Amino acid sequence: MDNHFIDHSSRPIEELLSLKGKSSVVTGGASGIGEGIVKRLAEAGSSIIVADIDLKKAENTSKKIADSTGAKVIAVEVDVSNSKSLAETAEACLENFGSLEIWVNNAGIFPTTGPAIEAKDSFVDEMFEVNVRGTFAGSREAALRMKNGGVIINLASTQGLTGGPGISAYTASKHAVVGLTKSLAIELAPKGIRVVAVAPGVIDTPGVRYQLEPLKEAGIDISSMIKNSLLGRSGVPDDVARVVLFLASEMADWITGATIPVDAGKLAG
Ligand SMILES: NC(=O)c1ccc[n+]([C@@H]2O[C@H](COP(=O)([O-])OP(=O)(O)OC[C@H]3O[C@@H](n4cnc5c(N)ncnc54)[C@H](O)[C@@H]3O)[C@@H](O)[C@H]2O)c1
Repeated sequence: MDNHFIDHSSRPIEELLSLKGKSSVVTGGASGIGEGIVKRLAEAGSSIIVADIDLKKAENTSKKIADSTGAKVIAVEVDVSNSKSLAETAEACLENFGSLEIWVNNAGIFPTTGPAIEAKDSFVDEMFEVNVRGTFAGSREAALRMKNGGVIINLASTQGLTGGPGISAYTASKHAVVGLTKSLAIELAPKGIRVVAVAPGVIDTPGVRYQLEPLKEAGIDISSMIKNSLLGRSGVPDDVARVVLFLASEMADWITGATIPVDAGKLAG
């Protein structure tokens, strides 16, 4: 076999899943899916920056996960719609841990919209500033600092792979994330950087609960929305976090440019 092939088949699974010696940044890492991702990456041995717009919450999450895993976990305030603060976050990773190998563009917003013909430009702009430009700029600031190669993982959504009523701006923003993942993968492969995305179905998080609350108060049965699954159970943050850990690790080092649905079959039909 010439060295164009790398065959991991004789290596132990624990070694392939290990993130020891790696440093990660998770945006929106203070709660929901982001918090789940921080916990799994920390368990696998990575040092982590929990970057969130809510610093207090990020500090609480960091302490909790550092205590339970023994990993180095540090909270940093970031607003992903502000590119300068993303650059500062990437610098904080280098200053604290000496390198940056894993960057998760998780922070995202999904405010209730309604019909597209009623949506204001300012609403669409805000959605794109956070979900699209935040992911774009986060990836750029990370890639500029990944001197030993690395992996960028984007949070898309099943709404990035299909349409749906009442959430057109969110759908457009997540389709953009899927497209960005492909183009970045092509541009960054020569630098040894993989770029991948996950597309979760409905996951029970504080953000989703907050969005569904008004419907619940209006007497609408929200249980079928949360239980949107072929597998008989609702999605929780760790269902996504385990897939993100796999993608971040050497287990997935022949995957780039792909968006992986994590949706309990929602997209199956
Ligand atoms: N929960 C779902 O059903 C679901 C499904 C598909 C995709 N997603 C995507 O997963 C990601 C996380 O979703 P979630 O449900 O955990 O959200 P959440 O609202 O529960 O948590 C989001 C976190 O991001 C932080 N945040 C928000 N705006 C920010 C900003 N501008 N800069 C930095 N941090 C910011 C929040 O403080 C919070 O800690 C989002 O990109 C979302 O679109 C979620």
